[in-house]
Amino acid sequence: MHAAHIPVLLQETLRLLSPAPGEVFLDGTVGAGGHAEEIAARIGPGGILVCADADPAMLAVAAGRLEGFECVRTAHSDFSDFETVKGAAGGRMFDGMLLDLGLSSIQLDDPSRGFSFREDGPLDMRRDPGARAPTARDILRRATEKELADIFHRFGEERFSRRIARAIASQREREPLERTLRLADLVKRAIPRKAWPRDIHPATRVFQALRIAVNGELDSLSAFLDRFAGHLAPGGRIAVISFHSLEDRMVKVAFRGGSAGENAVLEVLTRKPVVPGAEEVHANPRARSAKLRAARICGRKEDPCRE
Ligand SMILES: C[S@@+](CC[C@H](N)C(=O)[O-])C[C@H]1O[C@@H](n2cnc3c(N)ncnc32)[C@H](O)[C@@H]1O
Repeated sequence: MHAAHIPVLLQETLRLLSPAPGEVFLDGTVGAGGHAEEIAARIGPGGILVCADADPAMLAVAAGRLEGFECVRTAHSDFSDFETVKGAAGGRMFDGMLLDLGLSSIQLDDPSRGFSFREDGPLDMRRDPGARAPTARDILRRATEKELADIFHRFGEERFSRRIARAIASQREREPLERTLRLADLVKRAIPRKAWPRDIHPATRVFQALRIAVNGELDSLSAFLDRFAGHLAPGGRIAVISFHSLEDRMVKVAFRGGSAGENAVLEVLTRKPVVPGAEEVHANPRARSAKLRAARICGRKEDPCRE
């Protein structure tokens, strides 16, 4: 992509990560491979770019797009599984790491995956459909009314979490909730008409909350943030793009504290998070809540920053 056409957030991510020829990088959320393509072009054939994704379908999309790059190694892995991603880099330390959290439009727009409240599909929502893990349907069936309300409140910041949980509990006594449109409709009816959000579908927050719960998204991020610094080479950079205030807070705290488990000293490269430009949000409304933070490792606590 020509620099003039690169969206602000991607441009800033690349500037902060500054991939250079021969370096070793991790794209822990490769998705459709947009960021990876730019990184691969910069590190060149002498570098290594480990492209990880927990969803084999996304890994296949990325592999197709990145076919021509010698430096690319794909890994079907959670980004917090350092054994696997480091193994794919031949055990080398990373000069840079990127997480672009959440899901790609390809996943969100595929009704068969169950993330969409606009088209009908099964209430699945697993990032890896092959994993033997509970689906959204299982959670909606098994969680208590209180647990459901907590999920919607905590992960979705949904004001009407209790009313929605009550509506689900009474609905499932009659018949189980199996389909996305049924849930979207039920949520819509549980929220008073005058309180419907103006810019998003009334079920957006509940769907987001369920997806975060189904995939243990905050647990993966927390495990990653505890350990990443131990796998970054001196001077190594990290960038995280998050879409939720809970995630952003976790990243901010970890960068300030130096990655809890690793005694590292990090220089924070983004005093305030970088947000997308108005044009970018117009072109891709899902980018509206994106926040980019980056840091650079400059030492360990016993051997603090020299530069
Ligand atoms: C927003 S998309 C990434 C888009 C990508 N940066 C691009 O340029 O196309 C996020 C991707 O990360 C994957 N993902 C989310 N959480 C993950 C995790 N804990 N481990 C591995 N992959 C994850 C999702 O399956 C999805 O494909």
